[in-house]
Amino acid sequence: MTNVPLRQIFYASLCGDPIDLDDILQQSRHNNAVDGITGLLWFNDGHFLQVLEGPADSVANAYARIAADRRHHDIRILSDRSVAAREFGYWSMERGSACADMGLRQRLARRLSDAPADIRAAFAASLAGD
Ligand SMILES: Cc1cc2nc3c(=O)[nH]c(=O)nc-3n(C[C@H](O)[C@H](O)[C@H](O)COP(=O)(O)O)c2cc1C
Repeated sequence: MTNVPLRQIFYASLCGDPIDLDDILQQSRHNNAVDGITGLLWFNDGHFLQVLEGPADSVANAYARIAADRRHHDIRILSDRSVAAREFGYWSMERGSACADMGLRQRLARRLSDAPADIRAAFAASLAGD
């Protein structure tokens, strides 16, 4: 297998009107499997955090679709970088529930340490694993 660098985009956004999370999850799982994208979508109290990683073109296309989606707004990219290997090599959707795995929470909390204060505050309690 050739070792093509992967692109990883990490963003936060605000959820608008009541939305159907299951619908988003279903759409995402389907498309991302086809596109070779893995990552994570974390939802808490009106805020989304998402990691998308995979082939650079696929991630760029997926992000362009997602950024144009009116089901959320105020999208802010927190990091956009090349990674040698997938850091979130599976796909899941979390709601900040107590059953989420602690390693995952810690990884997200670390990645959030450079994020703006309002975004960190929105996820602080759910990532602490109380
Ligand atoms: C918070 C949020 C996260 C999303 N994540 C993804 C995703 O990871 N992959 C994806 O293909 N679509 C995602 N979507 C949906 C896209 O914005 C878009 O509706 C969808 O990709 C269109 O797919 P379709 O052309 O197959 O209908 C997300 C939407 C929202 C609001």
